[in-house]
Amino acid sequence: MRIPQEKLEEIAQANDIIDVISSYTPVKKRGKAFLALCPFHPDKHPSLNISQEKQVYHCFSCKASGNVYRFVQEYEKITFFEAAEKLAIRAGIELNLKQTSPDISNEISRLFEMNKITAKFFNNNLNNLNESEEDFIYGYLIKRNIKNQTTIKFGIGYANKEWDSLTNHFKEENVFTHDELEKGGLLVKSDKDKEKYYDRFRGRLMFPIFNENDKVVGFGGRKLYEDDPGGKYINSPETKIYNKSKILYGLNFAKESIRTQDFVILVEGYMDVIALSQAGITNVVASSGTSLTEEQVKLVSRYSKNVVIIFDADLAGIKAAKRGIEIILEAGLELSVVSLPEGEDPDSLINKKGKEEIQKLLNNKKSIINFISSLYEKENKMSTVDDKTEFIKETISYVSRIPNKIKRAFYIKELSSLYNLYESDLRDELNIAVSKYRKETFPKSSVVIPRKKSLKDIRSGKQPSQEEMDLIEIFIKGDEESISYLENNLETSFIKNILILKITEIFLDEYMNEGRIAVSKVLNNIEDEEVISLITKATLDKHELSVYDKSKNNLIGTPRKNTIDYLKYAKDIIKKFKINELEEEIRVLGKDETKINKIIEIKKQINELSKP
Ligand code: UTP
Ligand code: MN
Repeated sequence: MRIPQEKLEEIAQANDIIDVISSYTPVKKRGKAFLALCPFHPDKHPSLNISQEKQVYHCFSCKASGNVYRFVQEYEKITFFEAAEKLAIRAGIELNLKQTSPDISNEISRLFEMNKITAKFFNNNLNNLNESEEDFIYGYLIKRNIKNQTTIKFGIGYANKEWDSLTNHFKEENVFTHDELEKGGLLVKSDKDKEKYYDRFRGRLMFPIFNENDKVVGFGGRKLYEDDPGGKYINSPETKIYNKSKILYGLNFAKESIRTQDFVILVEGYMDVIALSQAGITNVVASSGTSLTEEQVKLVSRYSKNVVIIFDADLAGIKAAKRGIEIILEAGLELSVVSLPEGEDPDSLINKKGKEEIQKLLNNKKSIINFISSLYEKENKMSTVDDKTEFIKETISYVSRIPNKIKRAFYIKELSSLYNLYESDLRDELNIAVSKYRKETFPKSSVVIPRKKSLKDIRSGKQPSQEEMDLIEIFIKGDEESISYLENNLETSFIKNILILKITEIFLDEYMNEGRIAVSKVLNNIEDEEVISLITKATLDKHELSVYDKSKNNLIGTPRKNTIDYLKYAKDIIKKFKINELEEEIRVLGKDETKINKIIEIKKQINELSKP
């Protein structure tokens, strides 16, 4: 069960972190800071720092850190959910997660109820098959390798071949009128006799489609009999509770696992979801009956920002999937691709080669760039200059959809090093693609695309530099103006530490979506311990924005006490980053005596930047 984000915030607000931690271990106030003996390691001197303002804790010794939920979770060794429950009780807040008894008082609740009854009816049919059906249906389930447990989990059922089986079932129940069952998509009105109704689904294997809250909203019916003139699948029509563009098949079963594994696998069919799930790969959904929509992507992005699409792909396939890929990228999600051998889908592949094969493919998932280039190579379209140009243009058109400029820069960097092209040329091409896309999407706005510096290699593993820590601190403590300044002026190449880069992305995302950055709330969605620790450390660190105090360039005049001008710090930090880059450039040039003029030029730039 999932607690809504608003509820989590309500509970957190009602449980001050100082009060909560005090109930476990004595907390002392020292100046603005709160200190306690850290309960997570043997601690002689209080090294647990707690910020009341930001509602987070950080141990400077063992690095234990987080918000109030995490403290309770770690201290009590319980799950996040249990910690939330405990804190809710502590604050007298009702979680209200219990199911209410069936309600058939209004149109919507009646639609839910009739779908539920129908799902049970179809499922129950599997236990009441006549002899000839029994062999055939069970034979089919065995042939498709659908296990009994899976039938139960997914509520799979059978609609028999009669015209009025479900119609009669509802007649007996006598709760719903034929007319409303027809509006619910379960019955169809006869063309000849307007008074007559018959079953929509006949002679089909039935897959109930659930909404996110486990309620049946419609059905997909798989053709079983040769003489059935209908299509392979017949789906429920849209109703007041079934909006195809807003439903993802399997999400109700997959959401927890999507969250814990932090990625979602997107497939094409009902059977693919079922086969993967049966094989133990449960973080999987399908956009069945429609092509992928923005709403579906938004829905799933609440659980994870990482999407893996699996498809049986050639260049024609990717053209067909183009809009879906664009939608995923436009939503700012991280996309990777798994391609299957020709003619296979995940279901058929598992049944032929076992789940290890799928797992292997998942482990070798490709970035969108690698994926497209491998298709071009496979189809021998990577040899002439024209072919390569087409590939680059196609790839850049995808990259241009990514809202985060730091991410775009990463892709450009990757392309440039993979194909040995000048980054500046690619950037020009990207800028054209971005403005073209923006013109399409926001025809009237005049968005300025800032030029970007080249992206240096990330020195991962190294400690964050002081500037980098200061940057994070501005994100956490700064005002709107300063964060907005960073958003517009920060370039990827400035950041060398991979964790800082991650955090910057998280913060910028949060800022773009919420217009502000609430640290304690952001922490609810981060699982990486190192990232949490870095954020809380920056929140609680004693030395604030210390880099400038020591700076030779004396960018900052007066030390600040109460009123901190974060905008000024943001500006100074950007300057400092730029100076660092220029100094780096001098170091590189330093070995080459012919470059003396260039060096002087750069030194002038540094002096210019160093002026207060
Ligand atoms: P597929 O043809 O790949 O079906 O269509 P599948 O799920 O692999 O089914 P099997 O393995 O042949 O039994 C992918 C999805 O497209 C939708 C369904 O949601 C299906 O799962 N579809 C397909 C329809 O809605 N109608 C159709 O006629 C065909
Ligand atoms: Mn299939």
